[in-house]
Amino acid sequence: MSHPSVPRIGRTVAGLGTAAVCSAGLLAAPAPASASPGARHTTRPYPNLATTPPMGWNNWSYYACRINEKVVLDNARALVRTGLARRGYDTVTVDDCWMSRRRGPRDELVPDPVKFPHGMAYVGQQLHRMGLRFGIYTDVGTLTCEKYPGSLGHFRQDAQLFARWKVDYVKADGCNVPVPRGRGKEETYRDLYGQLSSALRDAGRPITFSVSAPAYFQFDGDRVWHRVIGWSSELGNLWRGGRDVAGRKSSPATKWASILYNFRYNANLAELQRPGRWNDPDFLLVGDSDLTRQEMRSQMSLWAMMAAPLISSTDVGKLSGAAREILGNERVIAVDQDPLGVQGRIVQQGRDSTVLAKPLANGDWAIALFNAGDAARTLSITAGAAGLPEAGSYRLRDLVTGRGLRSDGEIVARQVPAHGTVLYRVTPG
Ligand code: GAL
Repeated sequence: MSHPSVPRIGRTVAGLGTAAVCSAGLLAAPAPASASPGARHTTRPYPNLATTPPMGWNNWSYYACRINEKVVLDNARALVRTGLARRGYDTVTVDDCWMSRRRGPRDELVPDPVKFPHGMAYVGQQLHRMGLRFGIYTDVGTLTCEKYPGSLGHFRQDAQLFARWKVDYVKADGCNVPVPRGRGKEETYRDLYGQLSSALRDAGRPITFSVSAPAYFQFDGDRVWHRVIGWSSELGNLWRGGRDVAGRKSSPATKWASILYNFRYNANLAELQRPGRWNDPDFLLVGDSDLTRQEMRSQMSLWAMMAAPLISSTDVGKLSGAAREILGNERVIAVDQDPLGVQGRIVQQGRDSTVLAKPLANGDWAIALFNAGDAARTLSITAGAAGLPEAGSYRLRDLVTGRGLRSDGEIVARQVPAHGTVLYRVTPG
């Protein structure tokens, strides 16, 4: 990243070695909840508009810039038709590249007339008719990552335009942010995201705000990164912490590696999440994505354990039966959306395996046993090591198969397939 203009992030997938190093650093450096170098900023926390992690669809990792009205509305219809909308996938977000290359005569953002011939208000209207919510992308810099007009210098105007279009969710990226001479990068980002945050809150419409700032600080040292997450969690409802998951054209191995990478860094950010303020490790690739069934299940289960936003990026109309079942698994969705709003924690870390535990509102716990290795293996943990309350026995329900088991304290997942996860809901007593 070079000054004065900070370029885009997240196009490549780092090796897993890097991920492991990064995670180790994270564990060693717990973060302050909300510090900022710009002490002059008085933070009014953004309204609590996402009491559970947002769910929905975004075109980016599947379609990138190849979007238009038809792609967006066809996917929206497919969400409704497949029943996924009813299960919670209700926010349809149009990512980068929806705009014309230039602002209009009044400096307003103008939708690309070929891609969106009826304009964006129309898209919103259609989505609302389907019972869905309308999300849109912008950038706090001079240009978006794909070099369309950014919102810098136009925060109030753009927020009001989005409100007029009846937008319900804004994702604000952080490409092409010029850092003025004499100011720091963090201070600049904090200031720009702060301006957009207050413009959105004043726009007269509840707009869920997704902040991308932390993704631009993932490699600036954990202290800085965590601090940026701290203020992002006050300026918005969710934030992208780091790299993009791999796009559609990447190899299957690269896609899986990117999921693993994002899981590893995000699992270590549990301390920084709190109910209503969500770490976002990026899209669910579950779908027409070259992942194995086990890999799709793992991503869904691990994202649910982390109370991550469940934002699918795929062609919903082409979902296989298996992918639809995985995305739509209500027992797993309930873990993600649990009203206690706690991100699950790592309670056991092996070389190629991770066990996570997450307390749930009704006194149950979710336990995920994840085999990241390339061969099947049996994984287990004791209820005590997982942090569960002591009990004479425990009832376990496998949330994928629905099968019930009893245990006297050993939580075992036999022969978990390569890249697979067993997710239990555990009821003590
Ligand atoms: C990236 C962002 C992606 C997508 C893309 C659009 O920075 O992480 O999710 O929004 O920009 O150009």
